[in-house]
Amino acid sequence: MTQPKTYFVRSYGCQMNVYDAERMEELLGADGMTRAESQDDADLVVLNTCHIREKAAEKVYSEIGRIRKKGEKSGRKAMVAVAGCVAQAEGEEIARRAPSVDVIVGPQAYHRLPAMTRTAAAGTRAVDTDLPTLAKFKALGTARRARPSSFLTIQEGCDKFCTYCVVPYTRGAEVSRPADILLEEARKLADGGAREIVLLGQNVNAYRDEHGVGFGDLIGRVAAIHGIERIRYTTSHPADMTDELIAAHGEIQALMPYLHLPVQSGSDRVLKAMNRSHTAESYSDTIAALRRVRPDIAISGDFIVGFPGETEAEFEETLKIVDATRYAQAYSFKYSPRPGTPAATMDTQIAELVKAERLERLQSALNAQQIRFNQNSVGLCVNVLIERPGKREGQVVGKSPWLQSVHFDAEGAAIGDIVAVEIESAGPNSLAGRRRMSDDRTGRGQVA
Ligand code: SAH
Ligand code: SF4
Ligand code: F3S
Repeated sequence: MTQPKTYFVRSYGCQMNVYDAERMEELLGADGMTRAESQDDADLVVLNTCHIREKAAEKVYSEIGRIRKKGEKSGRKAMVAVAGCVAQAEGEEIARRAPSVDVIVGPQAYHRLPAMTRTAAAGTRAVDTDLPTLAKFKALGTARRARPSSFLTIQEGCDKFCTYCVVPYTRGAEVSRPADILLEEARKLADGGAREIVLLGQNVNAYRDEHGVGFGDLIGRVAAIHGIERIRYTTSHPADMTDELIAAHGEIQALMPYLHLPVQSGSDRVLKAMNRSHTAESYSDTIAALRRVRPDIAISGDFIVGFPGETEAEFEETLKIVDATRYAQAYSFKYSPRPGTPAATMDTQIAELVKAERLERLQSALNAQQIRFNQNSVGLCVNVLIERPGKREGQVVGKSPWLQSVHFDAEGAAIGDIVAVEIESAGPNSLAGRRRMSDDRTGRGQVA
């Protein structure tokens, strides 16, 4: 096999994988490769994988099969690299089940990807599932390609060990990147045109660097960077919502009024079995405290239904917390047993049909809340950060402070601008409106 000249990175899973995919593209570019127009044209295909649920992991094997078949048909064999969380969790199994894979690289070792492609080109499969998290970031540096809304991974790994979850195994121990390096990366993003920074980590609100800089402090310092108008962060753990962080939501204007705070279940018995270290009541108290300092804050969450042993009555407690919280948006999943996690071997697994029925009931409640939330935006004038062109000529799509997608005619505004838009209609997943030029702001203020 020859050294690839073009690459294509396909990413699955969470935002942290999106960040990693961007960094891999930057690395491969710096190594002299160019980005292919499509996966089918690429000499090197990187599958940046997710292991969180069984379905996510199985996608990898079907995609590898598709690439191999395509190569056999065209006689042009691409180099295939499996990166991300499946590579970390199942490196050996990939090598066994999919011998055509040339490179297997975990989420903390991908800074070595360019060198690994050379090993593979020389005819040896390259495998690296070490976890040298900080060495990786050091090697990556801080120069980045910016987007209007740019991701910034500030922390890696997880030490929480929820009993259903693979992340502590696939991403390794919780490590916070040093604040000075993060601020350098954020400043470069701002210089490159970023208006919004999304701080990323699996437990992002447990951030604390080696010099004791905490999360609220870091948010304040990012907010002070010239050009940064908006800050978001995800994903947070309810147990790490400190008073300081809650107060920051009332004090830091650039901190957007939207918080993704997964509760998983409304039953304290189930939460305990999940090793979640919060209760339904402590979660509700946190939400109430947030709403006191920021009354318009929109709440989003994650839910798992059919965790081993979950009774009908316990599931109904989840519906109750949904009712009480009034979510703007949410993600809900059927429990998926994952190899190596404690919950997978519990002998009280729930039947698939029961899980499906509970998921349907939960999603219909959550969808109704999401629609109501969007409908309440009609008639408001909101600031929108324009992120990309829309489907129609002249149309653009951006985000409201509450993370709703807003479609409207640009009328002279450009990608990266923050403009005032009057919301005229709402669908389940997006809003549509019209610019109100007289209210355009370049500053941080929200238009009421
Ligand atoms: N660190 C984040 C979430 C990480 S995974 C947190 O603690 O909230 C994203 C979501 O996937 C989780 O919130 C959970 O709802 C879901 N999830 C994780 N493992 C799962 C499993 N084994 N089965 C079903 N859903 C799962
Ligand atoms: Fe997984 Fe729990 Fe860690 Fe979130 S906090 S990544 S759900 S172990
Ligand atoms: Fe998936 Fe890994 Fe993210 S398992 S959800 S890609 S941390």
